[in-house]
Amino acid sequence: MRLALRFVVPMVAILALIAYATIPLFEALDRRWAIRDVEVRARLIANTASEPLVSLIDSKDNRKIQRFFERAVQDERLFALGFCDMQSVLLYRSSNFPQAIRCTDTRAYQNPVLTLHVSDYPVEADGKTIGKLVLVQDIGFVGNRSTETKRYLFWLFIVLGLVISFANVVIARLSFQSLMGRMRAALKGGTIKRTLSRMQSPELLPLAQDMRNFLRDIGSDRPARDENQISWTPKTLKNLLKEELAGDEVLIVSNREPYIHSHVDGKIEARFPASGLVTALEPIMRACSGTWIAHGSGDADRETVDDHDRVRVPPEKPSYQIRRVWLTPEEEQGYYYGFSNEGLWPLCHVAYARPVFRLPDWEQYKAVNQKFADVVVQEARTEDPVILVQDYHLALVPRMIREKLPNATIITFWHIPWPNAEAFGICPWREEILKGLLGSSILGFHTRYHCNNFIDTIDRTLETRIDRETSQITFRGKATAIKSYPISIEWPPKHVDNQRSLAEVRAEVRKNNGLPDDMILGIGIDRLDYTKGICERFLAVERLFERYPEWIGKFSLIQIAAPSREALDQYRNLGMQVREEAARINAKFPQAITLKIQHHGPQQVFEHYRACDVCMVTSLHDGMNLVAKEFVAARDDERGSLILSQFTGAASEMPEALIVNPYDIEQCAMALNAALSMPSEEQRARMHSMRGQLQEFNVYRWAGRMLIDAARMRQHERLRGRIKENEAWL
Ligand code: F6P
Repeated sequence: MRLALRFVVPMVAILALIAYATIPLFEALDRRWAIRDVEVRARLIANTASEPLVSLIDSKDNRKIQRFFERAVQDERLFALGFCDMQSVLLYRSSNFPQAIRCTDTRAYQNPVLTLHVSDYPVEADGKTIGKLVLVQDIGFVGNRSTETKRYLFWLFIVLGLVISFANVVIARLSFQSLMGRMRAALKGGTIKRTLSRMQSPELLPLAQDMRNFLRDIGSDRPARDENQISWTPKTLKNLLKEELAGDEVLIVSNREPYIHSHVDGKIEARFPASGLVTALEPIMRACSGTWIAHGSGDADRETVDDHDRVRVPPEKPSYQIRRVWLTPEEEQGYYYGFSNEGLWPLCHVAYARPVFRLPDWEQYKAVNQKFADVVVQEARTEDPVILVQDYHLALVPRMIREKLPNATIITFWHIPWPNAEAFGICPWREEILKGLLGSSILGFHTRYHCNNFIDTIDRTLETRIDRETSQITFRGKATAIKSYPISIEWPPKHVDNQRSLAEVRAEVRKNNGLPDDMILGIGIDRLDYTKGICERFLAVERLFERYPEWIGKFSLIQIAAPSREALDQYRNLGMQVREEAARINAKFPQAITLKIQHHGPQQVFEHYRACDVCMVTSLHDGMNLVAKEFVAARDDERGSLILSQFTGAASEMPEALIVNPYDIEQCAMALNAALSMPSEEQRARMHSMRGQLQEFNVYRWAGRMLIDAARMRQHERLRGRIKENEAWL
């Protein structure tokens, strides 16, 4: 509309001006033509009237002559008629013949209103001129006609103006659309460089040049970060937030909270849960000081929040806040235990536990996801915050947030594996889950393999556009980038700082567990979960003693298992099974396994890593597994060996570990023997290499890469916004 006005108004104005300047010319021309017509007509009348007039004059019948004159002027346009003789005497005339007309010079007559035209014609009798006939004609019609012509001409110009300008608008629009079409075709699916090289047609060349200049400008303002060159620390992350995201608001939403307040011996204590997700995100939050929205699951949680359900943490040095979401026991049962942990957890982990899907659980899952999304929207202070949605508990949240905050940058991270399309296909609500996740701007997995599984699942389930080259899925006009971000731990690990000496912790751990000072120790630290392969680990220890009896009485495994999801039968049964298995093996080989099913704080966990010689990670399937990385981080003495399941994400990052198939008990026993026999030089070399990798690929890099991608996305989105604005202007 604006565009049409821009064309129409000036065009009509120009044509009105032209009309104003040219209409008097048309008017004069019209008058000249009209007078010529009047004179032709007068000659015709004179010719016709001459003959009867000569006869009447011959008859000298004045009455008849007078009647002839009066009858002649009954013609509408012939106003008066007169006859002058050769002496210029007006001999005869109609009664209304103007007195002022002189026979000597009839054309000199000037009537005041210019509506009478006088002309005279000779009258002959027998070839001799006997006088002249004077015709006075009413030419008032000429004036009327010219007023009408003027009006018609004026409107003709206006209509012409409108038609021409609308035709211009249509032509301009069509040309613009074809130009945009060609530009879009050039832009589609390629790098900027390739796009610019495709813009070769002559009309696009100036535009390509402008784009080059523009990109150069942006580039000079903000040099593209090469994240490989960055040494990642909390400070780098803080700077990144400040520079790349201009201090934008950052919110995290997850089921598990980083500090759980509980009543212990009459006091309130804050416990740090055993969770890979919390381990990774907590240092990020300390660095960015945002808000972390999570389920308030501790029995003292309500007592520690303010009026807005917020509490500042970490307790020893608060730097960010938790906003707690309260769930009823029914909600927790259906959403957390039911759909999340009896449905999605076994579905995504190939650990041969059958997933259970119940409609009431799904209903609770949807309702609780909505509850979390509403709290996120409530907590957001801006309309375009950066929101980090965590894990399988909240698969529907990205779309729910997107509906309320369409300009938010939503980065969702899936902390567990994504199975192949066939396996995921058994979920009755697969479509809703996938649509929920596609509300994200970026969807992250630990490995490329999980990204590919996700893309294949989408391909089989939903009608979307998939760009495999860029790993981008477009659903209902909104694109989601599918990316791999291998999660990690903080570096340097904060718990190493206040550690006691190695000798001290080694002695203490042995003493506390009733083991001899020289006992070689293995360590396993997990949540008590069937995906962790704890029983398989025990079987490997048993097989070690059977195959290599020289280790009997010299080696012992300490297994710390943090109780988890105990409301579920499967987890309670696992607890029993693990206890029984440990007891059975210990009966055969005394002190083979020390099982501690209880929660250990991060400090104690680190002491165990340092006190032991071999760490065993035998997960049957694991997204990443941070225990492996923590063990390496804790070993600043560069000693110790890591046995690592090939079914963890960490295995592809740490090939220096002894990689095993946990289902292959013989192989695991052999790996354990190799670890125990490994010369210290080899231990050092492997550990050194793994520590170097961890130092570089730490958790700040994990978060930083996601935030850099988010910042780029926001930059592109803003750019697209500006282009759209210009399109609207055009
Ligand atoms: O490693 C991440 C993770 O497995 C999460 O997916 C999960 O939330 C957490 O650890 C522990 O489980 P929960 O939250 O049920 O205690």
